[in-house]
Amino acid sequence: MTIKLAIIYYSSTGTNHKMAEKAAHVARTWGAEVRLSRVAELAPEQVIASNPAWQAHLTETQEIPVAKTEDLDWADAIIFSTPTRFGNVAAQLKQFIDQTGGLWAKGKLANKVVSAFTSAQNPHGGQEATLLALYTTFYHWGSIVVAPGYTAPEIFKAGGNPYGASTAVDEHGVFDHSVFDAIEVQTRRVLDIAAKLKD
Ligand SMILES: Cc1cc2nc3c(=O)[nH]c(=O)nc-3n(C[C@H](O)[C@H](O)[C@H](O)COP(=O)(O)O)c2cc1C
Repeated sequence: MTIKLAIIYYSSTGTNHKMAEKAAHVARTWGAEVRLSRVAELAPEQVIASNPAWQAHLTETQEIPVAKTEDLDWADAIIFSTPTRFGNVAAQLKQFIDQTGGLWAKGKLANKVVSAFTSAQNPHGGQEATLLALYTTFYHWGSIVVAPGYTAPEIFKAGGNPYGASTAVDEHGVFDHSVFDAIEVQTRRVLDIAAKLKD
């Protein structure tokens, strides 16, 4: 039995892209079929161009497919990754999520295993609020939200966020890579539970 995992992220300056790539690597090693995609960029070109790190990241990731709602339909399990924006989900990812009304109305998102990661500049910059905001949507979908809880030492070492892997990233893009260990735990947990549900 193969588990199909969609990893869908938004990233302006690369942190959430790296987090999503780590989850993809873990999932492929686990034996999952993985679709990694980024949601469409919505910010005006001149705003992106005013931030060299944002412009560079967008240019570097042009080859990564843009997420489609069909990816959600295809998947057994879904992981999202988003920067924290004022304690909430990035608008680019929210715009993608707000295109799922058709799938939701047909019950196509019910019973899928869903989980999420985030980053913010500050250690207490709203990471937990962002994940809980995302999870509110997943409850409306009827999805099975799989949070990491405190199920492994790696979660404590990465800051102890039981809602999902998260990190604090400075203005130079530097963050503690212990979050990658928490991502590994969470991704494997998502896949293990998705496999049990699909069995
Ligand atoms: C409009 C905006 C709002 C932000 N809001 C917060 C916030 O509420 N708390 C915080 O700590 N960082 C905040 N940040 C910093 C981002 O969370 C940080 O740049 C992001 O996590 C980096 O992820 P990325 O490299 O994947 O884009 C904000 C950044 C922007 C541009």
